[in-house]
Amino acid sequence: MIENADGTAIERAAHILRSGGLVAFPTETVYGLGADATNGVAVARIFEAKGRPRFNPLIVHVPDADAARRFAVFDAEADALAARFWPGPLTLVLPLRRDVEQPLSDLVTAGLDTVAIRVPHHPVARALLEAAGVPVAAPSANISGRISPTRAAHVAEDIGARVNMILDGGAADAGLESTIVALKPRPTMLRPGAVAREDVEAALGAPLADRGEGDGVTAPGQLASHYAPNASVRLHASEARPGETLLGFGPAAPKNAMNLSRAGDLREAAANLFACLRALDAEKPGRIAVMPIPDKGLGEAINDRLRRAAATKPTTSSGD
Ligand code: TXA
Ligand code: MG
Repeated sequence: MIENADGTAIERAAHILRSGGLVAFPTETVYGLGADATNGVAVARIFEAKGRPRFNPLIVHVPDADAARRFAVFDAEADALAARFWPGPLTLVLPLRRDVEQPLSDLVTAGLDTVAIRVPHHPVARALLEAAGVPVAAPSANISGRISPTRAAHVAEDIGARVNMILDGGAADAGLESTIVALKPRPTMLRPGAVAREDVEAALGAPLADRGEGDGVTAPGQLASHYAPNASVRLHASEARPGETLLGFGPAAPKNAMNLSRAGDLREAAANLFACLRALDAEKPGRIAVMPIPDKGLGEAINDRLRRAAATKPTTSSGD
């Protein structure tokens, strides 16, 4: 399971990633749990392996700034930070490009219009990303709620049985996660980490705002928030009521309804969730009735997302 990160192991790990599998790999901050960021089902496996009850947006790892530009919009400030800190432990949250050949899975961005990207410095991470040739979504490689792993053995103890390979590249040296900075609507510190605030501010020539310092565009605490559909959402629906659009799950759903997974597969449903919400959101009058989804495995995170979507609306038709 744990493999010494030599050339052949890295090639095999890259192949696993391209085939939709999970690889834990070292970065200069902590070990990451990686999957092909363009493959929704692969990304769903990350949440499954971590036992994360929520779909938080994930950081996308790429080998260099050119690869990052394929998926995100860079302005002058983003260019300056990338030039100064990449490769290295700074993550930039940038506007997402959707008009690309191989778009990132909506599950990576949790349906947001932004994406968190980083170019790690660790030689094993860099070699893996270059060999994989796909952007790699990777949260820290621990079970949700536990400490981030800085050694391959930590990963093995925590989630060893749930990943296809653990690349051992020794101890991650920072042990502190990357610093996360959002660029829009203005440079903002989202998470302090391995790059000091002062160094980011020096590169920008301006102070960083703090998360929640609202300027109207983002409500306090909402900057790293989640995509919320405009439509109202009613859960545990057996059928659509007048004015509602049905979002189905499983083979029993009406054939003409949009379906998260006709096969009733929770990974597939997770991979489709945000795209379905977006598509239904575009419809009038914007009322979604969702069929029951089992509350086990990834179903817990799917239901969490749907419940919160339901809770944010002054809906007249609550769950039944
Ligand atoms: O050092 C690190 O950054 C490690 C290594 C593996 O690279 N990764 C890591 O990922 O810490 P994770 O998933 O544990 O943390 C990702 C953080 C979350 O707090 C998430 O909310 C935030 O990044 N994030 C991701 N995309 C975002 C976005 N579009 N907007 C705001 N926050 C975002
Ligand atoms: Mg983490």
